Amino acid sequence: MALKITVIGTGYLGATHAAAMAELGFEVLGLDVVPEKIEMLSAGRVPMYEPGLEDLLRKHVAGIEGSSGRLRFTTSWEEIGAFGDVHFVCVNTPQKHGEYACDMSYVESAFDSLAPQLGRAALVVGKSTVPVGSAERLARRLTELAPAGGEVELAWNPEFLREGFAVQDTLHPDRIVVGTGSERAEKVLREVYATPVGEGSPFIVTDFPTAELVKTAANSFLATKISFINAMAEVCEAAGGDVVKLAEAIGYDERIGRKFLRAGIGFGGGCLPKDIRAFMARAGELGADQALTFLREVDSINMRRRGHMVELAREAVGGDSSFLGKRVAVLGATFKPDSDDVRDSPALNVAGQIHLQGGQVTVYDPKGMDNARRLFPTLGYAGSALEAVRGADVVLHLTEWREFRELDPEELGGAVTRRLILDGRNALDPAVWRGAGWTYRAMGRPRA
Ligand code: UGA
Repeated sequence: MALKITVIGTGYLGATHAAAMAELGFEVLGLDVVPEKIEMLSAGRVPMYEPGLEDLLRKHVAGIEGSSGRLRFTTSWEEIGAFGDVHFVCVNTPQKHGEYACDMSYVESAFDSLAPQLGRAALVVGKSTVPVGSAERLARRLTELAPAGGEVELAWNPEFLREGFAVQDTLHPDRIVVGTGSERAEKVLREVYATPVGEGSPFIVTDFPTAELVKTAANSFLATKISFINAMAEVCEAAGGDVVKLAEAIGYDERIGRKFLRAGIGFGGGCLPKDIRAFMARAGELGADQALTFLREVDSINMRRRGHMVELAREAVGGDSSFLGKRVAVLGATFKPDSDDVRDSPALNVAGQIHLQGGQVTVYDPKGMDNARRLFPTLGYAGSALEAVRGADVVLHLTEWREFRELDPEELGGAVTRRLILDGRNALDPAVWRGAGWTYRAMGRPRA
């Protein structure tokens, strides 16, 4: 009998995982505690912008014409317990308010609600990003609370998907990491992931702490790589060097690699910033805080980028102490392109700082407008890039959407007060903008 799968929590991770499991041929039941989300998903709609996800969902959600019918959603824990052989826990673990540590309350409450429903053998698989040591504790809790006791096992299977590529990363993962001490659990997960493993995805079995650490170590490394190149950008600016050329040149060394070396206003989003902080907090609890003090520097280099962009903009509009009376156009609100996510977005943070200092800020983003408005209702918003730059004293390019690379500098030039653009992502072609009479400045690059 084919395994039946449940997915608990239907955010980016859970919604994508549920649809991907149905695509792999399993019967899937997804649960969320927010009934509106379940209504939307059951109607084949995704509560966020993620390329390809809605199509995949509609291909499988029961009740949609032509779908496989393998994917359903519920708010009932009882139904989840009765249905599933394998339960994936995909709830989020945000940063605690006022602290670095990770807020485990959604994970705790998912386990507390699920366990009493487990009356027969089942495998619970944690996918949420958690502090090392959590899995061992949660495994004990499951055995205590589940009516089936020792028949219920736990594995930890961290997720490495990137927003904007969530479907591809889930269906074709570059590795599958499974933390478990049980051969039975390993066998079940080999069955679940048979298709990607068959296509060549490495399947790495570890103990609980290693599996938990793989995830935070990977995100810490990525954050460090970005802050490294941003530190080089600071030095390039001081020395008159060009960080884009520098990144290209060091990137040809295969040991270094070219990816994740794009200097700019730094990293944001719902993962990297909070994961490095939670990692530092956890290392402190374990008495290993010295090992991760460098992450404090990674974080502070990153946060400095936002302030630096504000200073570049201030200098661009006149150099005195305030933005009063100046019009600033901001292209981009999301933390990265191909997403509508504005959580800890460097772009919105810069826009907000300039606004608070008296600038008249107008923001445009291809997909993030609704979320941005909710977070920063006092900023100005425009329906297009052209509208956003009308009358601007300076244009800031802060999220590298393709749409912005395809803008016509000549057309935009006709709308602004001054042809002055600051590229906070090193993603526009300086020659094209300068050719159209713009002053183009970017972070870590010489001024022409
Ligand atoms: C990140 C990781 O890349 C995923 O592997 C991981 O699964 C995920 O977090 C998670 O923990 O769930 P994501 O948050 O979607 O994925 O975004 P990234 O593509 O890593 O970008 C993060 C930030 O770094 C963005 O703000 C981006 O603009 C910035 N960045 C990225 C740079 O400033 N420079 C670069 O060269 C690359």
